[in-house]
Amino acid sequence: DNNSEIDTDVWTLTRFVMETGRQVKGSTGELTQLINSLLTSIKAISCAVRKAGLAHLQGIAGTVNTTGDDQKKLDVLSNDLVINMLRSSYGTCCMVSEENEHAIITPKEKRGKYVVCFDPLDGSSNIDCLASIGTIFAIYKRIDETSTEDATEKDALQPGNKIVAAGYALYGSATLVALSTGQGLNFFMLDPAIGEFILTERNVKIKPKGKIYSLNEGYTKYMHPSINEYLKHKKYPKDGSAPYGARYVGSMVSDVHRTIAYGGIFMYPANEKSPKGKLRLLYECNPIAFLIEQCGGVATTGEERVLDVVPTNIHQRVPFVVGSPDDVNEYLDFVKKHK
Ligand code: AHM
Ligand code: MG
Repeated sequence: DNNSEIDTDVWTLTRFVMETGRQVKGSTGELTQLINSLLTSIKAISCAVRKAGLAHLQGIAGTVNTTGDDQKKLDVLSNDLVINMLRSSYGTCCMVSEENEHAIITPKEKRGKYVVCFDPLDGSSNIDCLASIGTIFAIYKRIDETSTEDATEKDALQPGNKIVAAGYALYGSATLVALSTGQGLNFFMLDPAIGEFILTERNVKIKPKGKIYSLNEGYTKYMHPSINEYLKHKKYPKDGSAPYGARYVGSMVSDVHRTIAYGGIFMYPANEKSPKGKLRLLYECNPIAFLIEQCGGVATTGEERVLDVVPTNIHQRVPFVVGSPDDVNEYLDFVKKHK
């Protein structure tokens, strides 16, 4: 009997957010609505990444794009989708996107109380070779919730420790959303058959220590000697333990998701060429740092907790080291030794 294979009481992401929201006294459902809209854009991006509808676009037999016009680049399309869906959720007042120089202020008639910082499609160098890419987001409340004025860019300059919810979508061999509203980390897998994200792992915890290190090792020439020394220790351990494996996709969501799933360390430290590293605080590092802490990991700049950095510019960069607590703390020991 086929029907017996269908779960009739499944936990979708929306249900999960609704239920956790309900437990907060005085909640209005605005966050649920916002996250729902965001999920719609994630589903659409997932389809675009996987080239769904390609046959239609190209004309089944021919090579011409039947609409005649050039297809939008994937990163531009993703950005438009996220902005439009968020704006029409009535839940935002201010958005910061990697793709936009300035903050995007929601007009009064659509305004809500949340600030959303996002990278619509991270790992752009992986788009053309079909390796995994992702979407990253962090959600805050605006600084003065009672204000009747337009929000400003300043509303986005909050430290990560003020995050209300954050997550990423990974367009990998399956599409997955990792989400936390501050009560642990949960994984949801997209079931394309019903177009819903299904809760597949509740209260995820990272291993205390892993066996993998992950960074762009090609740049070590330009990095601080403490990094080199740390890596040497991973490759030639003196205590008789096995050397670490090396993995680096060059797409942060993939590298971070693997780090959460298997344990280990992911780093994009400062180097001579980029003294603050490469990754952006507001929409790359903070959301990931929040999720890493929610699953029991550590996220540091090498000098301080990532979530405590007070931003001064919406596109600022920070050195970024995250992962299993024992691994990140061991790295910090090497940093201390060099002070
Ligand atoms: P992007 O926002 O232009 O895609 O750059 C961010 C990406 C991250 O996903 C990844 O961790 C990093 O750039 C890789 O950089 P590099 O090629 O210098 O190793
Ligand atoms: Mg990016």
